[in-house]
Amino acid sequence: MTSGSPEGPSTIGTVLRRSTDYLAARGSETPRLDAERLLSKALGLERIELYMALERPLTPSELDSARELVVRRGAREPLQYVLGEWWFRRLMLNVDPRALIPRPETEILVDRALLLLDGRDAPRVIDVGTGSGAIALSLKDECPGARVSGFDFSPDALALAADNAARTGLEVDFLEGDLFDGLPLGPWDLVVSNPPYVDAADVPDLEPEVRDWEPHEALTADGAVAAVARGAVDVLAAGGGIVLEVGAGQAETTADLLEKLGLHDVRVTPDLRGIDRVVEGVWR
Ligand SMILES: C[S@@+](CC[C@H](N)C(=O)[O-])C[C@H]1O[C@@H](n2cnc3c(N)ncnc32)[C@H](O)[C@@H]1O
Repeated sequence: MTSGSPEGPSTIGTVLRRSTDYLAARGSETPRLDAERLLSKALGLERIELYMALERPLTPSELDSARELVVRRGAREPLQYVLGEWWFRRLMLNVDPRALIPRPETEILVDRALLLLDGRDAPRVIDVGTGSGAIALSLKDECPGARVSGFDFSPDALALAADNAARTGLEVDFLEGDLFDGLPLGPWDLVVSNPPYVDAADVPDLEPEVRDWEPHEALTADGAVAAVARGAVDVLAAGGGIVLEVGAGQAETTADLLEKLGLHDVRVTPDLRGIDRVVEGVWR
């Protein structure tokens, strides 16, 4: 992105156009949308307000702010980290490289979890590998009677989750520990988890936004899905449920494992792209 001349004055419209071209040339798949969101942040305006003021010139300091954000995004830093915040269900959360960016498919895990919680009085819930706290905080937000804990081995992630609890005013208890040492003693009425499920061998092929910016311990941990499933049966209350997010191609094996472990009502739910993504079961 360049300033004023020789391309004419830097108005909202021209900066949007130049930023879009700059980001497209650097591999963004959504350059126009990125440019709109970044300029909105730099100017403190809604996206719709940009379109109502396309001819408005930017001041030099506005131009500097916009340029800094666009250059970061051009280096393939995820849009969410550049913005510093992102929506997950009803919550606007802080996001930064201390934890994974919450994904839309994880919202489906929360839908399934809420169905399992329906009708329960003060259920005890644990989110294993809580990261930013997105799942735990959403469950507390949408099922206020639940007593929710978030569990992670990353102090950085837990600090971000605590920031998000403060930001949203939601009460969630955050616990530090390693899921491979067993889950925190319950009994829990619900164990939810979006564990690391990317094969380490696939990491080099991931998009730079993920490969170069998101914490690798949030992406890969050999055997984490099975470890959460096995750990859950030791800590679930009778009638309690487990809901797991898994990678493409992992749902069938995970459903089989839940059945072998003695869970019933095992069910798989696809994500919006039709990929089997969420596996659940109930403990007798
Ligand atoms: C895929 S991220 C999920 C983050 C968040 N729950 C979400 O859905 O956006 C997995 C999380 O598991 C945590 N994790 C990885 N290995 C772990 C372990 N051995 N014990 C506890 N947490 C672990 C990571 O720090 C990371 O926050």
